[in-house]
Amino acid sequence: MKALQNKILTDGIVLSDTVLKVDTFLNHQMDPVLMKEIGEEFASRFEDAGITKILTIESSGIAPAIMTALKLNVEMVFARKRKSLTLQDGLITSKVYSFTKKEENEISVADKFIQEDDVILIIDDFLANGQAAFGLMDIVQKAGAKVGGIGIVIEKAFQDGGKQIRQSGVKVESLARIQSLSNGKVTFVEDKPT
Ligand code: G4P
Ligand code: NA
Ligand code: NA
Repeated sequence: MKALQNKILTDGIVLSDTVLKVDTFLNHQMDPVLMKEIGEEFASRFEDAGITKILTIESSGIAPAIMTALKLNVEMVFARKRKSLTLQDGLITSKVYSFTKKEENEISVADKFIQEDDVILIIDDFLANGQAAFGLMDIVQKAGAKVGGIGIVIEKAFQDGGKQIRQSGVKVESLARIQSLSNGKVTFVEDKPT
């Protein structure tokens, strides 16, 4: 997605060989116009997948997920990272280990929000090692529903998550695929010729 690649090139800050900071439009401040285009792009890439609901994880996945849900005319639910006061019973949970933060978190979704006949599109802002995506897929599976695909705003293709998920047979669509962050420079995986 060209507009997203351009935004990454103009606004992204390469913090290290593995970490890209995008707090001007995705992870802190958010760009609603770009977010709307991101939602439309995901919606078009999954329009034939029979999606009945979007699942993401707080907090940065929420904006692209709600824009996609709006376009596909389905509801969106976000997994919580912390226990909610009002959310206690009827929770589906999964453990997610963050290599970046070196900590394990429990994520949860109320079981009433995912039905067995749901076909779920998982959306997230970043795909690195794929732990968040695997946790969300685990929740969908525990609910007895089906994963219809995974939509990622920025995939770091030099890390292993995308490969592992695709090998498991799930369709992954990433709107920007970063090949490398070496030498302070962002390079993208060449778009497949169409
Ligand atoms: P994984 O799920 O793919 O294994 O990723 P990891 O544990 O490494 O990621 C932990 C957090 O860091 C996630 O956000 C993820 O989106 C984010 N992240 C991973 N790599 C990058 C990167 O290069 N740049 C930026 N900006 N973020 C990255 P989170 O802690 O869940 O936070 P949020 O959703 O509230 O923003
Ligand atoms: Na994030
Ligand atoms: Na996220």
